[in-house]
Amino acid sequence: MKPNYLKLEFLSLPENQAFARDAVAAFCLPLNPTLSQLSDVKTAVSEAVTNAVIHAYPDWPEENPRKVELRCTVNADVLHIEIEDQGIGIADVEKAMEPLFSTCPDKDRSGMGFAFMEAFMDDLEVESTVGKGTIVRMEKKLGHFSWAEEEE
Ligand SMILES: Nc1ncnc2c1ncn2[C@@H]1O[C@H](COP(=O)(O)OP(=O)(O)O)[C@@H](O)[C@H]1O
Ligand SMILES: [Mg+2]
Repeated sequence: MKPNYLKLEFLSLPENQAFARDAVAAFCLPLNPTLSQLSDVKTAVSEAVTNAVIHAYPDWPEENPRKVELRCTVNADVLHIEIEDQGIGIADVEKAMEPLFSTCPDKDRSGMGFAFMEAFMDDLEVESTVGKGTIVRMEKKLGHFSWAEEEE
């Protein structure tokens, strides 16, 4: 497939989670993903956008711009996704990425968001600056491969 990109900007509202997830799914369809790959991508995008909605702007709607940007590219058979917010940022990214770690367990958060992104995508990188915001970068190779190739 020819290189392509998608850029979306939306408010950090819960109703935009499904929209963002389905937009990425539609965008990567030309790569002919398997159903399981599609489901993995949708789950990972949902988790990242949910985090931007729930954690990035705790003082919303008073002070913060509450903008979320989603950027996707495809290059050959690789889908690259970036989800960026301009929220409070994460002080200790390594700690935040530990399975079951959550700063809001009281709000029914499982602490598994980053663990799911890591498990369902081939690559996950989180760049965050306190007071500036967070960028989550994820990558996944899509398409129908032989079993041996997929296990690599
Ligand atoms: N975009 C973000 N902005 C600020 N903090 C975040 C963001 N994403 C994640 N975090 C922090 O990382 C923690 C772990 O995230 P996650 O693994 O998705 O678990 P959960 O969302 O269930 O708390 C969150 O509890 C939160 O403190
Ligand atoms: Mg989460």
